[in-house]
Amino acid sequence: MNAQSSLFDGDFSALTRRLQDDAAGVWAVHDRACERFEAGEEVYLLSVGDPDLATPPRVVQAGIDALHKGRTHYAPGRGERHLRETIAGIETRASGKPCDPDEVVVFPGATNAIYSVLACLVDPGDEVVVAEPMYIGYEGIFRALNISKAGFALDADAGFAFRLEAVKAAITERTRVVFINTPGNPAGNMIGESELRELAAFCRERNIWLVCDEVYSMITFDGPHVSLRRAAAQLDNVVVIDGLSKSHAMTGWRLGWTVSSRLLADRLLDFTSSTIFGCCQFVQDAAAFALTNDEEYIQGVREEYRVRRDYVCQRVTAIAGLSCDVPPAGMFVMIDVGELGVDGEQFADQLLAAEGVSVLPGIGFGENCRWHVRVSLAQPISVLRPAFDRIARFVAP
Ligand SMILES: Cc1ncc(COP(=O)(O)O)c(C=O)c1O
Repeated sequence: MNAQSSLFDGDFSALTRRLQDDAAGVWAVHDRACERFEAGEEVYLLSVGDPDLATPPRVVQAGIDALHKGRTHYAPGRGERHLRETIAGIETRASGKPCDPDEVVVFPGATNAIYSVLACLVDPGDEVVVAEPMYIGYEGIFRALNISKAGFALDADAGFAFRLEAVKAAITERTRVVFINTPGNPAGNMIGESELRELAAFCRERNIWLVCDEVYSMITFDGPHVSLRRAAAQLDNVVVIDGLSKSHAMTGWRLGWTVSSRLLADRLLDFTSSTIFGCCQFVQDAAAFALTNDEEYIQGVREEYRVRRDYVCQRVTAIAGLSCDVPPAGMFVMIDVGELGVDGEQFADQLLAAEGVSVLPGIGFGENCRWHVRVSLAQPISVLRPAFDRIARFVAP
């Protein structure tokens, strides 16, 4: 039979179809900018969330050494013991509460950790309560798992502050998980210790899981990050997710983890054993090295992003029609463009077309960011300076 005579007519799964119309539109400006950049045009990419900083050379060397030692085989499903001990030690010190290495599960990145946690906790049709604005990446996970999202608004008039009452009001009988992110993407907002404690207790009383994405925990400028584990009085309904992508500029290594009750960690092991089957040994060795030899490096990273944050905020403030809150943490600044009479999407489109600067429209993160654009700090001042010269020229030609 001629193999080309008929087209294969197999259908895709419902999951695949749900993902097909994922939030791709949000990235349209960024994708266009990347195309122009790759074609050799002078384009300033302020839309990326991937640190421009290099993975620390000593960490790279630790990975190479591990490869040479033959650390290229299957790893334990929970993660290598020495990495989990390192993470448990950090958690114990940060929270003031003992963390057992068996409460830690290692994943190829925080994204996979979030997917796995929600897959273990939520059935299709159940509700996850989540902040708006939220990190765009959550959307695909919710869709894949067929989870309903119930948003609660961060206070856009107060630097996107977290309001406990707003979360409580969003919880219904169908709520299985409250999902929070501190420090937050895109707004860099931080949730305070007393609010975390009260929320944890509130959720526990109602048999609701409280999951906290803390991947920006090490990038704080004005005061230390408070982890959910530190704040919560009881830990059995609490899950913390963290990783090395942002703090150690290791996005491509794919390394994240969860800290939860032993009970959930065992279920996560079942799940990851049938979906991932262990993370790379040499990546885990490099990760353990990174986490034990990083104090000076992290201080330097924090200082670098703080300088960039201050620079961006000062440039924004100097441009009539633009304004921003100064984020206390994270890798982004949200700029309010509403006074110019355009929304974030129009601003981003026109800015790219006119000046070759790409920023992300706020609407992708939530309705209450319609009038904002997100600028990434993952570019050096040598890029931010000419980019903001162009933004200034675009706003006031
Ligand atoms: C809030 C948040 N969580 C998770 C991730 C993804 O982290 P990872 O690279 O470890 O999958 C990102 C990446 O931008 C993020 O901003």
